[in-house]
Amino acid sequence: MKKSFVFLLACGMSLSLAAQSITVSEARFSVGDGPSWKDAGFDDSGWRILSFDKDWTEQGISNDNAFAWYRLHVVIPSELKDPLTGNVVLDLGPVDDNEETFLNGVKVGATNGWNVPRRYLAAGKLVKWDKENVIAVRVYNGTGKGGFFAGDACIVKPVLSDCVALSLAQKDGKVEATLSSALKTKGTVEVVQTDVLTETILSTQEQKINLKAGSDATLSWPAGENTRFTVTYKDDNFGESITEIKCLPYILTPPAPATPRYNGPAVFGVRPGSPVIFRLAFSGDKPMKYEVEGLPEGVSVNPDNGVLSGSVAKKGEYPLSLKATNAKGSTTASFTLVVGEDKIALTPPMGWNSWNCWATSVSQEKVTASALAMLNRGLADYGYSYINIDDAWEAPERAADGSIVPNEKFPDMKALGDWLHSNGLRLGIYSSPGDMTCGGYLGTLGHEEQDARTWNEWGIDYLKYDWCGYAKVYAAQNDHSVASYIRPYLKMEEYLRQQPRDIFYSLCQYGMAEVWTWGHAVDANSWRTTGDITDTWASLKEIGFDRQPELYPYAGPGHWNDPDMLVVGKVGWSANLRDSRLTPDEQYTHISLWALLAANMLIGCPIEQIDDFTFNLLCNNEVNAVNQDVLGKQARRYSDEDGIQVWARPLADGTMAVGIFNLNETPVNVDLADALSKAGIHKIAGVRDLWRQQDIEVGSYIIPSHGVRLVKVQKACCRH
Ligand code: GLA
Repeated sequence: MKKSFVFLLACGMSLSLAAQSITVSEARFSVGDGPSWKDAGFDDSGWRILSFDKDWTEQGISNDNAFAWYRLHVVIPSELKDPLTGNVVLDLGPVDDNEETFLNGVKVGATNGWNVPRRYLAAGKLVKWDKENVIAVRVYNGTGKGGFFAGDACIVKPVLSDCVALSLAQKDGKVEATLSSALKTKGTVEVVQTDVLTETILSTQEQKINLKAGSDATLSWPAGENTRFTVTYKDDNFGESITEIKCLPYILTPPAPATPRYNGPAVFGVRPGSPVIFRLAFSGDKPMKYEVEGLPEGVSVNPDNGVLSGSVAKKGEYPLSLKATNAKGSTTASFTLVVGEDKIALTPPMGWNSWNCWATSVSQEKVTASALAMLNRGLADYGYSYINIDDAWEAPERAADGSIVPNEKFPDMKALGDWLHSNGLRLGIYSSPGDMTCGGYLGTLGHEEQDARTWNEWGIDYLKYDWCGYAKVYAAQNDHSVASYIRPYLKMEEYLRQQPRDIFYSLCQYGMAEVWTWGHAVDANSWRTTGDITDTWASLKEIGFDRQPELYPYAGPGHWNDPDMLVVGKVGWSANLRDSRLTPDEQYTHISLWALLAANMLIGCPIEQIDDFTFNLLCNNEVNAVNQDVLGKQARRYSDEDGIQVWARPLADGTMAVGIFNLNETPVNVDLADALSKAGIHKIAGVRDLWRQQDIEVGSYIIPSHGVRLVKVQKACCRH
């Protein structure tokens, strides 16, 4: 029979035990930090009580860049003692931002990241069975929301995955499965290898395993092409199993031809008199010679690297013919140079940003390495041009005249800008309208005009202006109108647009006050629509699929919704990088969706470390052409049924780009005609698979779990 009863504790928290678990919905809370706050005997009777279903901001607490503690007083009944292991599990859910957890004064776990669930195995010997225990949770909050926010914490009996970990890795041409166990146990490992392109099973193997307490076992298999490994460990003692899947990176796109091919946008806009900085994006064997017909007075092309430079005084649209020639042949492309006020960012920005890889460990050396690789690895031949330094370039103090200065990691910003410009690349910088940035560096508050001038002197072409420290100003002024969100961005707009160069104005305030409805009013070129992305499916799904469907009316040439930077290649937000935790299919989905959303395409990994798979993801000219399409229409989501979503956008050539995404945990066979009809496309003249760069039949296709079919559809029409 299942037990179900309620404990009422001295501190007033109500706990219920049902089906062998305890739920805790609130705890004692205090901002601050203290060495004895972890201890069971610490007197917290004066602390207030906060519930777990709302973050602490929503419960009236403001506590940025600081610590706070929750103390959960819990009677843990001996029914929860696992007979197999003697242990118990603290399942706390996600905590915003970083946390350390103690049980009766002893640390049992710590995790960084606001949307990562916390689940810790606690040794039975730490628990006071059938008596009151104290779970003390020390939380560090960067800015904004903090603490528990997702509802009840639970105390439960361990399951197999709490005691035995299974991880898969690709190493030296092999796939390795490592099992590590906290207890003595035995079971069977089964591995199924599947061809990802056809979904046919290639092989199935089984092996018996014995594990000592605290030991590891590693099995390995040769890594085949286009293969998915599904490894299941079935444990004899628990009678349970755990499964991990590793799909090897697979390249769908054929190599680019050796002859010149134009991969850049069909249009580039510049304000009258501003420097033209534009590199003609042709792939193909180098050396290459570049020519441009129709250039207006004041602009010239460097025939050796294809860099356009100079400036144009007269507003107008200048149709150009671009030509590139190498040993294998020659190609031309039509292009329009648009000169006018309000005419910058006519297609979404493509480039690189330092944050998702290096975060605060960024340096001029690392920035230069990525910029060099952008040129040498050929990403510049696909239109990537911005090199954006995120937070952590700022010195702790301003100069005597009040001007902002870089720290010792950036010896010469102007030289960096000059070098990038001479190669047709552009330099971006980061700051906050507050006194401090998110990373705790100096912000711009009170120096708006001076900073805009400094950035102009350095040759800055992109400003990411991040709310963070401004939260204090906002809180102090007691004005919560939309105008109070707009004010700091309006102020910077004035000074930025006074500069004699075009500075892409990127708002970063996580979508507050529906920024997409007023971003254009501060002449912003893009605005972040959400909080920070990370390299997990949960994050990609939330930011990409859940938060964007309503935003398509607000994007267009000159102003774009920004769902945050790319999390492909090596990321890590530190000096220590790792491969993105997104599977290859999730990465195809990520780039496909960002292309459909007309999103900023800012690469978040060090370009000098890019592998072939990542290069192919980022440098498919047909996929990028969707992102850079001159109509600038962001995709709408037309359908969301049974985990299959259909997103589509019209393109300037009269075709439609359509993404059919499978958000399910298993592959799904999708009828293309049926999926396209959801987007209102009924008569089809032709379909091109953009990743494979080949025309395909209107048939049925398997879409892998979390994967995509990205197609371009020529509609059949009656009169032409
Ligand atoms: C915020 C932004 C990130 C990054 C960091 C830098 O979190 O959203 O993109 O710029 O600040 O501190």
